[in-house]
Amino acid sequence: MVESISVHDKQFVLSIDEVQIATRVRQVAQLLQDEVAGQRPLFICVLNGAFMFAADILKYMNEPCEVSFVKYSSYQGTSSSGEIKQLIGLNENIKGRIVVVIEDIVDSGYTMSGMVDILNKAGAERVIIASLLMKPGALKVNLHVDLVGFEIPNDFVVGYGLDYNGLGRNLPGIYKVV
Ligand code: IMP
Ligand code: MG
Repeated sequence: MVESISVHDKQFVLSIDEVQIATRVRQVAQLLQDEVAGQRPLFICVLNGAFMFAADILKYMNEPCEVSFVKYSSYQGTSSSGEIKQLIGLNENIKGRIVVVIEDIVDSGYTMSGMVDILNKAGAERVIIASLLMKPGALKVNLHVDLVGFEIPNDFVVGYGLDYNGLGRNLPGIYKVV
């Protein structure tokens, strides 16, 4: 696998390779499977970044589950309020349901905590968050992330779904900025 790449104006080096990702995704999927067994969960993939992680996780789910997609943007500009804007919202009725949120990365945590609020207000019975990556040092809200693939330092990363200004999502490994 390529050790070093450039995306736009920045250099990145390989941080987590394809094999490490596949191994960990399988473990996370198994833990999730045990959590939701027999409960007909609704999986919600948070676009765009989580598309690859969600696809890989879902291949290990071996009983009926539904899959949906949402897309959010944080409000830009002034200091983060913690509010998020729904670009693509949820169509499903989630009242009384077990919902599994599949996210690429938890950074400040504003996106996930905003989403948890939305899902709780919509009557979810239980919200489980599974994030491929988490930067514990960047967390600004009180948020419990149930399943984390890899905890990483506060470096900007691309690959396996994550982008830098639109590029890098197709990379099979995770690369960190130099
Ligand atoms: P949060 O609301 O600050 O937790 O940010 C979450 C969102 O910011 C993620 O869903 C990503 O889309 C994006 N993000 C945060 N850190 C990175 C990174 O290192 N690389 C790419 N995207 C990131
Ligand atoms: Mg995201």
